[in-house]
Amino acid sequence: MRIGILNSGGDCPGLNAVIHGVVGAASKLNMEVVGFRDGFEGLLDGGEHVILNPIDTIGIMKLGGTILGTTNKNHFVKKVGVEDIKDIAQTLVTETKATMKELEIEALIVVGGDGTLSTALHLYNEGIPVIGVPKTIDNDLQATAMTFGFDSAVSCVVDALDRLHTTAVSHKRVMVVEVMGRSAGWIALWGGVAGGANIVLIPEIEFDFEKVAKKIKEREEKGFYSTMIVVAEGAHLPEGDQITKSTVGKSVRFGGIGEVVAERIAKMTGKETRACTLGHLQRGGEPTSLDRILGARFGVKAIELAKEKQFGRMVSYQSYQVSSVTIAKAVHQLRTVDPHGEVVTTARAIGISMGDED
Ligand code: F6P
Repeated sequence: MRIGILNSGGDCPGLNAVIHGVVGAASKLNMEVVGFRDGFEGLLDGGEHVILNPIDTIGIMKLGGTILGTTNKNHFVKKVGVEDIKDIAQTLVTETKATMKELEIEALIVVGGDGTLSTALHLYNEGIPVIGVPKTIDNDLQATAMTFGFDSAVSCVVDALDRLHTTAVSHKRVMVVEVMGRSAGWIALWGGVAGGANIVLIPEIEFDFEKVAKKIKEREEKGFYSTMIVVAEGAHLPEGDQITKSTVGKSVRFGGIGEVVAERIAKMTGKETRACTLGHLQRGGEPTSLDRILGARFGVKAIELAKEKQFGRMVSYQSYQVSSVTIAKAVHQLRTVDPHGEVVTTARAIGISMGDED
């Protein structure tokens, strides 16, 4: 049996661990793996592919990015906005089928986030034997309790907070750290708790600048002259707006709320306040051990699904086990932070303000 694999959308630490898992498990079953370059583009006429043997994946587990390359701007982009579905041209489906036939590929493993999985579902509905593997640093897919890449992104936030903390204390400053996550506050919340932030602002909890300023002043009165604030890129200003940089199709690119929050806080408290946007640092670099293991487990599970011809399914992590769900059930089901959930309660219990309490 010959298996195809591609990853599409933004890169994410742990993608190479998935490839490693797929190639390792496939070779044990005498399957051959074909890797398509640059996402679905590799399936088209003129697209590139490469045969992946175990020897080609030695040492890739620890590498960030993806050895196959990826893109989030391609012919196959199906989801262009939150509720906006763009149809994929039938010629692309025909070309994909022709490539798979020519290369004698009997299953196509597609590794990606919600947009990529929407495309995968479309191809499956067109009769292509697809298996999905979920990926995103945002950790915002409902159908899986965790995605690889998230832990690495959180580690990056924690490392940044550790570094920024010493300079904030030295200068008695307020530091505002803007982190990724789109409309979900997972990275901000977990990074903020683990990194010792004093205030965490997430899209799921409405915050008030007066309350943020009050917390900073209270800290001042207790002799803590610096304050660390983590703000999720998708957090809503009290006026309701999210701050976006640009729009690609109908899909927005977030960025800029850190500076806005810093400016407002400086005005209200008179404190010297600086903003730091972590941006793509959170997506780069080596995956953590957790993401390497999760990625490898997802890859091995994908091969098991291929062997059993369980097409149209997506690997999923539930109750400490890697299992699977239908891709149809998985797409367009975003999982956001429960404002009354246990991690938010923990944050509040250890003195972190979510910007909403007196
Ligand atoms: O979905 C992953 C993510 O890193 C988001 O957290 C972020 O908003 C977005 O991708 C950035 O995308 P791009 O790399 O296209 O700027």
